[in-house]
Amino acid sequence: MHLELKMDDAKRISCHFLAIILITLPVFCLAGGAGKNCDIFTGSWVLDQSPYPYLSDYSPTCPFIRPEFDCHKYGRPDRQYLKYKWQPSGCNLPRFNAIGFLKKMQGKQIMLVGDSVTFNHYNSLICLLHAAVPNSNISAADPWRSVTFHDYGVTVTIFMSHYLVDIEETKIGRLLKLDSISSGDVWKQADVLVFNTGLWWYVKDDRKGWDFIQDGNNIVKDMDRTTALAKALATWRRWVDSTVEVTKTKLFFEGVFPDHHRVGWSGGSQAVATAQGRRYRWPDRGIPEVRRR
Ligand SMILES: *[C@@H]1O[C@H](CO)[C@@H](O)[C@H](O)[C@H]1NC(C)=O
Repeated sequence: MHLELKMDDAKRISCHFLAIILITLPVFCLAGGAGKNCDIFTGSWVLDQSPYPYLSDYSPTCPFIRPEFDCHKYGRPDRQYLKYKWQPSGCNLPRFNAIGFLKKMQGKQIMLVGDSVTFNHYNSLICLLHAAVPNSNISAADPWRSVTFHDYGVTVTIFMSHYLVDIEETKIGRLLKLDSISSGDVWKQADVLVFNTGLWWYVKDDRKGWDFIQDGNNIVKDMDRTTALAKALATWRRWVDSTVEVTKTKLFFEGVFPDHHRVGWSGGSQAVATAQGRRYRWPDRGIPEVRRR
């Protein structure tokens, strides 16, 4: 999950990406269908004989996929991995109905806030929607950050934030502020908010996005990461409680995902592509949410 991705990384990333959305979408869209009593988290991956069109013929048809998540483009030769679906043990999940989704979301702004795995979810969602209405009026404000389906007035946006709380560039270095959320003014405009944070709290020193942590009045070099995460989530929760109108805004929080690096999920990443790629850097150096003062 470096921002500067080697193609090696990109290949690993993309291979988990499609699987993840298949379990995430049902959660996101669960209204009726599977029903309240179904435990959708207990089940297995099974072969889907009629996969989504977007899954079986992925990259050529979706113009909005962030390049380094594009398996086919960088030479992954097999397609079998596109044909799995999540099958809960106790019930069947309804198939994702993209046009129904667009109609239900008419006039709404959907925003996903989180790390690169959340970016995978964002890519998957917009590509599933695009596959259903490829010839409609769709525009991207920033090729990979926000897509509007004009015929339905639906906008889907990704807001990259690894920690949800702020990181500020200070004299002593990058300061992770456990009790401050300044991006909330952007988030609160959305009608549907999907948040995630988790993986980045546990990365090792050479990859972490901060140099010091501000915890109340103390600035520390490091601390127990789970404690730090808990404090940040408490800050986030206070922000939600004070800012988000639950009658108007639908809000989801996704917990820690399997890492999309290396063998993070049932050994799935053994099936990576063999093509040699060039270095790809996106979008630029540094953690995107660092604010400069
Ligand atoms: C697409 O929708 C936008 C916003 O409503 C509009 O300005 C634009 O002209 C439309 N494009 C086409 C090709 O219809």
